[in-house]
Amino acid sequence: MAGVCDGHIGRAWHETAALADNALMRDKRVILGVTGGIAAYKSADLVRRLVERGAQVQVVMTAGAREFITATTFQALSGRPVRESLWDSAAEAAMGHIELARWAELVLVAPATADFMARLAAGRADDLLATLCLATTAPIVLAPAMNQQMWANVATQANVATLEGRGVRLLGPAVGDQACGEFGPGRMLEPTELADLIEPLIPGDGPLSGRRVLITAGPTRESIDPVRFVSNRSSGKMGYAVAQAMRAAGAEVVLVSGPVALPAPPGVRRLNVESAVQMHETVQQELAGCDVFVATAAVADYRPIAVAGSKIKKKTEQMTLEMTRTTDILATVAARADRPFVVGFAAETDAVEQHAREKLLRKNLDMIAANEVGATKAFDCEDNALLVLWRGGGRAELPRASKRELATALVALIAERLRANAGPGAVAGAASAGAAKA
Ligand code: CTP
Repeated sequence: MAGVCDGHIGRAWHETAALADNALMRDKRVILGVTGGIAAYKSADLVRRLVERGAQVQVVMTAGAREFITATTFQALSGRPVRESLWDSAAEAAMGHIELARWAELVLVAPATADFMARLAAGRADDLLATLCLATTAPIVLAPAMNQQMWANVATQANVATLEGRGVRLLGPAVGDQACGEFGPGRMLEPTELADLIEPLIPGDGPLSGRRVLITAGPTRESIDPVRFVSNRSSGKMGYAVAQAMRAAGAEVVLVSGPVALPAPPGVRRLNVESAVQMHETVQQELAGCDVFVATAAVADYRPIAVAGSKIKKKTEQMTLEMTRTTDILATVAARADRPFVVGFAAETDAVEQHAREKLLRKNLDMIAANEVGATKAFDCEDNALLVLWRGGGRAELPRASKRELATALVALIAERLRANAGPGAVAGAASAGAAKA
């Protein structure tokens, strides 16, 4: 960072980087390629969003990008001299382009013009950015931005197909008003959205890096008629905290969430559902390749047998709602031959350990986290306490703490059990083999 952190130019980077103490992207090395489109002005903000998440950002500009924005802006925001040319001998002496390609943990090109995508699809190495893309083994992500007709052109679409077929990820473009006065697909995604989306794409280095985790959270809503439903008081806080802790441990996280008032944790892919049926279907669709399944959702145990097509009128003094059992999502996942490591939750009002152990066996789980519930306990609270039991008789008491702290401790236990299952003498999938002896 020599030469750029002094005086006022360095201050912008320092101030933003200071926000990154607990950031998930801390010290992740990102090359941000900027190509020549009007959306390049948004890339300055994108640098800030990445730096505030803790990333080290090396900006690489093409000649076209320099027509829209200066290197000084990026240098001030990233805290690093911008790389612009293959033929800059001073920069090459400090870090050659092959070294730079190896340094990157992710290459994000935003905006990516039609021309840049064409050059990438053709395997050209005619400027520094294209050369880096050829030479890197890091994931490459493009945020296309161009006139909507250029995006729709068959040549561009063929390049998109080629690039996607090679594993290049495209984020966007969004549909909207364009700088050229037209309307349609071609707008670059907003910087915050891009920063959120690339987080899970950077390979992690925590105890669960390389693992895929599926989590259910929140309540479900079971419709009675178009305006009424049966639900429960689950806030989703525990499940969201588990999702965040899993992500912080390096896992790729998919969160299947019932209706809650919480934002998706950064870097977590959230899929919104309403009913138990939808939650079950979504879990089935997302289960392939999953290493861990954690069911924190308060799934309705019953749903109305029939959903009225129009609003039910109050014609009688009493009404009876006939309900039927919903599918137990957790037990269904645990019954699969190709099951992941399965963790359930139990909410008990009494004899917590006894009921939880019964549930661990009955549902054939690998682990269960039990909490005591009551009028002021667990549901919609900020803190909680958990008793964690696992196969083979293991147990751990996690004393009262914030849901965030509990989630971190629970994730550490899950990572430990996964390691133990994969250790010497462990049989792959042993957790699923028949009789549990918890
Ligand atoms: N679960 C599920 N699908 C359902 C019901 C529950 O996946 N249809 C999951 C929950 O996400 C949780 C666990 O199963 O992980 C809870 O089990 P459950 O048997 O419903 O226990 P409790 O809610 O504690 O209820 P009960 O009083 O019936 O024991």
